[in-house]
Amino acid sequence: MRRLFLVAALALLLFLTSAAEPRTASAQSVSEAGALMVQAGRYEAASRRELRKAAREHRLAAAAAKKAKKTRAPGARKRLRRSARKHRVRAALHRKRARRQRKRAARLRRRAAQLGQVRAALVRRPPIPLGTAIDWSELQADPALERLFLDHFGQMSPENELKLFALQPRQGVYNFYTADRMVDWALSHGKRVRGHTLVYGNQLPHWMTSRAWTRDELLAVMRDHIETVMRHFHGRVAEWDVVNEAVGSWGDGWVHNLWYDVIGPDYVDQAFRFARAADPDAQLFYNDYGTELPDHPKTVRARALVSHLVSAGVPIDGVGLESHVSNQFKADGFEVAETMRRFAAMGLDVAVTEMDVRTNGGGPLAAELDTQRTTFGGSARACRMEPRCTSFTTWGISDRYSWFEVPELAPLMFDASMVPKPAFWDVEDWVRKP
Ligand code: XIL
Repeated sequence: MRRLFLVAALALLLFLTSAAEPRTASAQSVSEAGALMVQAGRYEAASRRELRKAAREHRLAAAAAKKAKKTRAPGARKRLRRSARKHRVRAALHRKRARRQRKRAARLRRRAAQLGQVRAALVRRPPIPLGTAIDWSELQADPALERLFLDHFGQMSPENELKLFALQPRQGVYNFYTADRMVDWALSHGKRVRGHTLVYGNQLPHWMTSRAWTRDELLAVMRDHIETVMRHFHGRVAEWDVVNEAVGSWGDGWVHNLWYDVIGPDYVDQAFRFARAADPDAQLFYNDYGTELPDHPKTVRARALVSHLVSAGVPIDGVGLESHVSNQFKADGFEVAETMRRFAAMGLDVAVTEMDVRTNGGGPLAAELDTQRTTFGGSARACRMEPRCTSFTTWGISDRYSWFEVPELAPLMFDASMVPKPAFWDVEDWVRKP
């Protein structure tokens, strides 16, 4: 009865796993594979037990046959021969059962192996791209910076060069000169490019902020920009921050920027719909800062927005955690992991997109650098361990060029002399090691 139940449960498991084949070696498929391997092990043990029983029956049959040969009394000889036959039949039966158990085990092991390269996934998830923001003019002026990028990073986020003010300096007049050179340079060195960003309330050009718009006019501007830019980079930029920083911690939970004020809260929905139509192959992200702690009011609001998008059928693929934090205000690795898990549970990818950790604690330098290391390392670990975390990006390489422009903050992984700081070794370990 117990065996019957076990077989039924296993059949159900096999059916369920074959019905929904996961995209990656997800945690779920790894644990399912683990369960299959355990069951396979049980079948193998049962098979060995049957073989031992078969051997015993075989010995008994041989002994009875030998005795029968020596026995004179015909009645006793007949009994012994019958006994030998009985033991031979039993031995055959046990061997047959052993074969059946072995076959079952092999079937389960094959099935488990199909569930996402079990061995590799159980040992460690494959490395994930380590990215950084790049300012093109800084990179061009500083060969040491270029060297660090080429040696240590696998992905680039243009820091400002793909923003609306840079690509569309006048209405309807696009300038891809710098952006093209940058993107092609990265691709020619085998680096991925994250597209940052299409719809952002900051850094808007004068032609947008200096006049009044109707909702329809601004929607048309948004559509034209998204279509033109995404089509231009189709096949080169596989992932875009479609909407950047729409959610606020206070008040009504929205950032009151031009897009929100003129179009209303559905500007986010519209942007994602335009983006999917413009490049159906691109991965579409919502990107924001201050969303690392799982229950911070801002994170809760970001989750509410994203949850709305998902349930309304708005095409969104992932959420970027900018992760501009400091030695005072930060999330530890477990908190970041929980935040990622909750977005992943909505069926979305996640990424760390702009991490830097300001060291303005005023403590001794070694202690500051150690806290910075733990914070960077915690997020990198969370990303490596979350099957849906697709990349880990820092907002710049060296403290010499940080966007904060305050040397004491020293928020990046290489110091102003381009020497790696403790944080770099932790991040490198979690993100890149095989
Ligand atoms: C920053 C750039 O690094 C600066 O050079 C620029 O002056 C302002 O914008 N969140 C974002 C990024 O999404 O686009 C911002 O980049 C940093 C905060």
